[in-house]
Amino acid sequence: MLFRNIFALALASVAFANPLEKRQGTNTNPAILATLDALADKVNVIIPAIQILQDSHQANDTSVGAQITQLVTAFNTSATALSGIAPSTGSNTTAPTNNDVAVDLGNSLSKVTSGLSALTPAIVPSIATFLAELDTPVAATVNAFNKSAPAQSSAFVHILMLDARQFFADEDMTQTLTALGF
Ligand SMILES: *[C@@H]1O[C@H](CO)[C@@H](O)[C@H](O)[C@H]1NC(C)=O
Ligand SMILES: *[C@@H]1O[C@H](CO)[C@@H](O)[C@H](O)[C@H]1NC(C)=O
Ligand SMILES: *[C@@H]1O[C@H](CO)[C@@H](O)[C@H](O)[C@H]1NC(C)=O
Ligand SMILES: *[C@@H]1O[C@H](CO)[C@@H](O)[C@H](O)[C@H]1NC(C)=O
Repeated sequence: MLFRNIFALALASVAFANPLEKRQGTNTNPAILATLDALADKVNVIIPAIQILQDSHQANDTSVGAQITQLVTAFNTSATALSGIAPSTGSNTTAPTNNDVAVDLGNSLSKVTSGLSALTPAIVPSIATFLAELDTPVAATVNAFNKSAPAQSSAFVHILMLDARQFFADEDMTQTLTALGF
């Protein structure tokens, strides 16, 4: 009986706390999406450029390295921008929704993994070093996203990245794996 009362009390305080919490924050999903769109714009230029280098047999440390440097800068910039956005209360109905922001980041991460997965050390001898350099800013972006986006969005990115998980593991991108919750 005592147990029951305590449980009921705990439930009542949860029911009380939630609406208050919601009123205190703002839905910053639009700012989060704008940041992720800026990242996607860069990924959508850099990854095809790497693919063209590969297809035309011009991929090497110098040519791919220059593109990786741009990717590092793009993810670093997005991590910094996301860090400046207040935690979002989010929305499941008003665009951009919690799922919209997750899909935007998930798409960029997927493009990076599929675009870089064909680069072998035979083609790009320093590829392992390049991916190690990329690990920190990519993880920083995911961590900053986790802090600014609603928890539901982070959980969805985790689901979207289930297929890419093996790439991050194979390439020893351990910071990114941890940030994604693997
Ligand atoms: C790398 O490829 C570029 C063309 O994309 C070429 O100009 C350069 O000479 C190559 N560098 C080496 C070291 O092979
Ligand atoms: C971006 O890169 C700079 C230089 O490497 C680093 O000091 C800074 O912490 C990075 N920013 C983020 C948000 O990770
Ligand atoms: C959105 O839906 C999830 C579960 O589907 C829920 O946990 C979350 O509170 C909802 N967010 C808002 C702002 O209503
Ligand atoms: C980011 O969010 C995912 C999904 O909710 C979680 O599994 C992961 O541990 C979080 N990462 C950090 C560093 O909190």
